[in-house]
Amino acid sequence: METAVPYFTLGTGQKIPCIGMGTFGSDKYGSEEVAAAVAGALRFGYRLFDCASVYGNEDRIGQIFNEAFTEGIVKREELFVTSKVWNNMHGRGDVLLSLAKTLKDLQLDYVDAYFVHWPYPNYHAPGCDGDSRNPDSVPFSADRFMATWTQMERAADMGLVKNLGMSNMTITKLEAVLPRCRIKPALIEMEQHPSFQQQELFDYCTAKGITVIAYCPIGSPNRPERDKTPGDVIDTELPEVSAAAKAHNIHPALVCLKWAVQRGSIPIPFSVHARNYESNLRAVIEDPLTGAEMESIKKAERNCRLVKGQVFLWPGAKGWEDLWD
Ligand SMILES: NC(=O)c1ccc[n+]([C@@H]2O[C@H](COP(=O)([O-])OP(=O)(O)OC[C@H]3O[C@@H](n4cnc5c(N)ncnc54)[C@H](OP(=O)(O)O)[C@@H]3O)[C@@H](O)[C@H]2O)c1
Repeated sequence: METAVPYFTLGTGQKIPCIGMGTFGSDKYGSEEVAAAVAGALRFGYRLFDCASVYGNEDRIGQIFNEAFTEGIVKREELFVTSKVWNNMHGRGDVLLSLAKTLKDLQLDYVDAYFVHWPYPNYHAPGCDGDSRNPDSVPFSADRFMATWTQMERAADMGLVKNLGMSNMTITKLEAVLPRCRIKPALIEMEQHPSFQQQELFDYCTAKGITVIAYCPIGSPNRPERDKTPGDVIDTELPEVSAAAKAHNIHPALVCLKWAVQRGSIPIPFSVHARNYESNLRAVIEDPLTGAEMESIKKAERNCRLVKGQVFLWPGAKGWEDLWD
């Protein structure tokens, strides 16, 4: 790709590409397919990759990074690699263990950002169905979260992590923990697409100087079955999105990505198909949405959360809404 991807600047001063590639195969694509997509995306010009230990593919992605460095396709310092500690590794000392495994798998000395994936230590087996519940699950506790965050801060002190991040947070939870953080999060990763804009949380993060990474930016059409509910909105069929797609003569998925970047967030769309991931990168470089289109997409909000997280519920919880105070 000839044109370089634009960058945002984090509160820590570090530059971050305005778009990245997701690496969660949604229980549909295996690690070989995801790794092949990462290899193609690197060559095309992607410089930000959103990884996580629970995606089960960091070892294969690490091989791809290593090959790219050896072949001189990209230098380590040109990449922005993120990863996340999974819910079963929140305990004292476990964050560093999890990070050590991630760094070994990714074949890196440090990650550019490390996230607490979910603010609960509630484990569920990969690929479990939506009704499965773990009897050991517990509600959110700021004290418990801070015990994990202290470990994250240690990892940053050790130079293993350049920026810290939180994911799947709410304003209530942020209010409870931010004043207690010695190192504040530079990034918050949250679900965000036209039908679920989280305007209040977005504004809160922006006011605090925290950059937003938007997951499921296209509305995750191939998300696992456990995350599908009757009544879910299809973002690419929203009239406001379709109208802009028609005006620009592009796929509605690309409208979602332009909107996310022009809003000031960093979308991390996933695709194993070169045609799609290439057009996703190109979309945020050329032919922006007009001010009127941006205003119109504001009205596409339908409060449609797709990743409800019901598998993390604890005994006695009423429903998935309890996760999101
Ligand atoms: N922090 C968290 O808790 C969390 C939760 C969920 C996801 N994530 C991250 O966010 C990333 C993205 O989320 P996601 O994969 O669920 O949702 P998404 O990026 O909104 O949707 C991905 C789907 O969109 C399709 N797509 C991509 N580009 C397209 C294009 N140009 N035209 C048409 N269709 C296109 C892909 O289909 P094809 O495969 O057919 O191209 C793919 O199935 C994940 O990979 C993961 O890294 C984080």
